[in-house]
Amino acid sequence: MILPHGGELINRVVPEREKLKIIEDVKKLPSLQVDTDSLLDIENIAVGTFSPLKGFMTKEELLSVAHNMTLPNGIVWTIPILLQLREEPKIGGRIAIKDGKGQVKAVMDVKEVYKIDLKKIAKLVWGTESDEHPGVRLFYSKGEWAVGGEVWLLEKTNFPFREWLLEPEETRKVFEYRGWKTVVGFQTRNAPHRAHEYLQRIGLEVADGLFINPVLGWRKSDDFDPQTVLVAYEHLINNYYPRHRVLLSGLATAMRYAGPREAVFHAIIRKNFGCTHFIVGRDHAGVGDFYDPYDAHRIFDRLPSSIDIEIIKVSAVFYCKECGCMASEKSCGHDESKRIYVSMTKIRNMLREGKTPPEEMIRKDIAELLMERVEVQNLTNIHS
Ligand code: ADX
Repeated sequence: MILPHGGELINRVVPEREKLKIIEDVKKLPSLQVDTDSLLDIENIAVGTFSPLKGFMTKEELLSVAHNMTLPNGIVWTIPILLQLREEPKIGGRIAIKDGKGQVKAVMDVKEVYKIDLKKIAKLVWGTESDEHPGVRLFYSKGEWAVGGEVWLLEKTNFPFREWLLEPEETRKVFEYRGWKTVVGFQTRNAPHRAHEYLQRIGLEVADGLFINPVLGWRKSDDFDPQTVLVAYEHLINNYYPRHRVLLSGLATAMRYAGPREAVFHAIIRKNFGCTHFIVGRDHAGVGDFYDPYDAHRIFDRLPSSIDIEIIKVSAVFYCKECGCMASEKSCGHDESKRIYVSMTKIRNMLREGKTPPEEMIRKDIAELLMERVEVQNLTNIHS
């Protein structure tokens, strides 16, 4: 089984018996109320999804990640994991972390309270200071103060799609049980269209198993809601794929839309889940025209050291009328005029207008399923 990033699967979940012993004392500690995104980050740290992180980044860690794409110890890491606040918190030492309802969820050993130069970090991580960028906008909105330090999880937060989540320890067990020596991870924030399917079938050719791992945390308002994404994937897997060769489980973290840097972050997370391979298609985790569509491929050659998971890079996928099938820039010899490009924005707009998108872009039954849900969609924010 592939080793987690940094060599060890982090586990910072306080055992139940210990929790019962300490909980009354924890309730007396100074406390900090945090949002759902931060609670989910704590959970991801505690169960090892973000291995080797043990807590929220200190200033030294943040600057190292932003400038060098590594943690101070040289391990590759590309996305800041921060506990951000809008006002300076007057805290130190051990504190209790509470949710919006005042329930204690975790303990944190505060190492440092510091100010973030938001624009500088945005430029380094997202490549832009513009608040037109949804990831940057979210980053700015969370505040310029940060608290760094290690965390211990006491209780998981209320999360509407909890039954869809597996922890790295569990996915690793499933892979082992199923006898998968090689597993390809697939990241997505959307319901499956034909280009996604093309990439997933490449994965099924290459590896013993396919791990489909949609992001269920915060996404921008025009992405499909998590429930719709999951229902559509269940349909695809149950009706079209060799079911025993696919595992579907959600990832409870926010999208950052950080393009290339997020591609690396996504790959590291899937390595922690036990994947040996990871698919990066065109404009992975991109938004608008902020990134060159292939920067997310090239970044893997620029990393200061290898992240030891094989990246399957696939170029733009489309339907070619001349080939009569889905193809990619690398596998099709015809020109642009023969190509039907697959775009989720186009698909969604057609569904909203009550039109059926072309079958070359999305399967008819999946389009119907999305159509049913398009009106009931409570898009994006799953903050409790
Ligand atoms: S992402 O933000 O998670 O990257 P999305 O769910 O659309 O967005 O994409 C999931 C994966 O499929 C990413 O690796 C992305 O690069 C790839 N992908 C999506 N559409 C295409 C396409 N038309 N051609 C090639 N790759 C694609």
